[in-house]
Parts: sequence; C-alpha cells; structure tokens
Amino acid sequence: MVAYPNSVAVAEKATEEVGVATVPAHVAIIMDGNGRWAASRGLPRLAGHRAGAQAVRRTIEAAMRSHVGWLTLYAFSSENWRRPAGEVLDLTGLMRHYLRSEVAELVREGVRVRVIGARRRFEPDLQRELAEAERRTAHNTRLNLVMALSYGARDEIVEAARLAAIAVRDGRLDPAMLDETAFGELLSTTGIPDPDLIIRTSGEQRLSNFLLWQAAYAELMFLDVLWPDFSTEHFAAALAEFSRRERRYGARPA
Ligand code: FPP
Repeated sequence: MVAYPNSVAVAEKATEEVGVATVPAHVAIIMDGNGRWAASRGLPRLAGHRAGAQAVRRTIEAAMRSHVGWLTLYAFSSENWRRPAGEVLDLTGLMRHYLRSEVAELVREGVRVRVIGARRRFEPDLQRELAEAERRTAHNTRLNLVMALSYGARDEIVEAARLAAIAVRDGRLDPAMLDETAFGELLSTTGIPDPDLIIRTSGEQRLSNFLLWQAAYAELMFLDVLWPDFSTEHFAAALAEFSRRERRYGARPA
C-alpha cells in the first residue's frame, strides 16, 4: 500500500478537529464514476477501474488514520454481472491483482478483511484468494475492511427470509421471536455495526441496492467527485460534515 503522508495528515487533522467521539464508527462507500473518469480522458474503462483501485488504497489509509473502525466498499454489485463480459473480466482481474499485491500490506497495517456478497459466483481461484485474505487478516483489529463483492441488498434480505422460513419449518425458530435483532443476525453483515455514514461519489443520488436494511439510520452524502478523484481531503470533509449532522433516530429533538 502506498503511503500518502500529506493527505493523511489532513484526515488526521480533521479527526482532531471534530473529536474522536464524532467520528463515524462505520463508513460505507459506493465507489461510482470510474467509467466517466476514464471516458473524460479518452481512456478505456479499465483505466478508470485501475485509478479507482488507487483511490481504494488512499481511502483505507485515511480511514485508519481517522480512527474509523469499519469501512465498507461497494466494489462489485450483483447487477454488475450484466456488464459486458470483457469489463467483468477486467474487474475480477483487478480484484485478483489487488488481493495478490495488497494482502501482505493489509496484514502488516492491522486491517481485517471481510467479504459480503455472493462470492460463489466468482471463479474458484478468486474465491480462494478472498478466503485467504480473510484468513490471513483475521487477527487484525485496527480497521475492519468489508468488501461488498457480487453484493445485492435485496438478494441478501431474501436469503435471510429464506433462512428464517427454514428455521421455522424445522422447529428451531418461533415466529414470535423473529424481531429486528434476530433477523439482522441472518444477514451477511451479522456482527458488523450498521453504517453511520454512506458516501456515494459521482453525483448520482441513489443507494443502488446497497445495504438497504443496514442503511435505516445512516447519514447519506452524495459527492460531486468521480471515484478515482476521491482524495483523503474529500474523506476528511465528509467526516467533518458528519460531525455537524444531528442524528435523532426518529426521536423528537430535546
Ligand atoms: C463504478 O464505476 C465502479 C465499479 C463498478 C467498480 C468499482 C471498482 C473499483 C473501485 C476498483 C477495483 C476495486 C478493487 C477492490 C480492486 P462505473 O464503472 O459504474 O462508472 P460510471 O458510472 O462512470 O460508468
């Protein structure tokens, strides 16, 4: 992983300014705009995804320095399988390359990797790399990095409903006991706190099937920057904006 001392200092400064208590415990990001970034330079889409991978590195570094405990990145949606086969190959190739070149550094930096999504849809060797990244980083505690890969929130919720139905059928679950906590434990994000802040880059203002259950009380920020241009300054500014928001979880102001 490349160090970005100057930009990271900005993120650290922002953390000092807002105070650690107001730093979101969990930031989730919809990394959008790689294609437009490449098109605006007359480059192939792959160049945009490569530049996006650099932004991933910077963001992980900034999250660590800002004392964010959980960072979830939406790197490949269940709908992304509908892209042209060549682009899917490019994206899965980039994931392979990223895992091979970065995991040792993630281990050293104290980052724990967890993958959510239908990983069974990836090639067996990529599935092995993902499992290996999770295994090798399992003891780390500095930052929890959740990679949403082949992830779709509706799929996830349907799968949880199916598991609940099976448990009821088999007599392991009393339907009266199925509350939000019990249902949440059937989701792929069990054990992961709900996101406090969801950022989407590229100016689009929608969630696109990302963490629909978990986003219930998340603060949403839609930034007018293409993902490859997302910098630690953008990250720091988002944290500063988060610290100014009042979260009431549906309650009346005091
Ligand atoms: C959205 O941009 C981005 C993606 C579909 C892929 C995200 C992938 C990366 C950030 C790089 C690879 C990640 C890792 C972990 C190695 P888009 O292609 O939809 O952009 P557009 O809307 O401008 O076309």
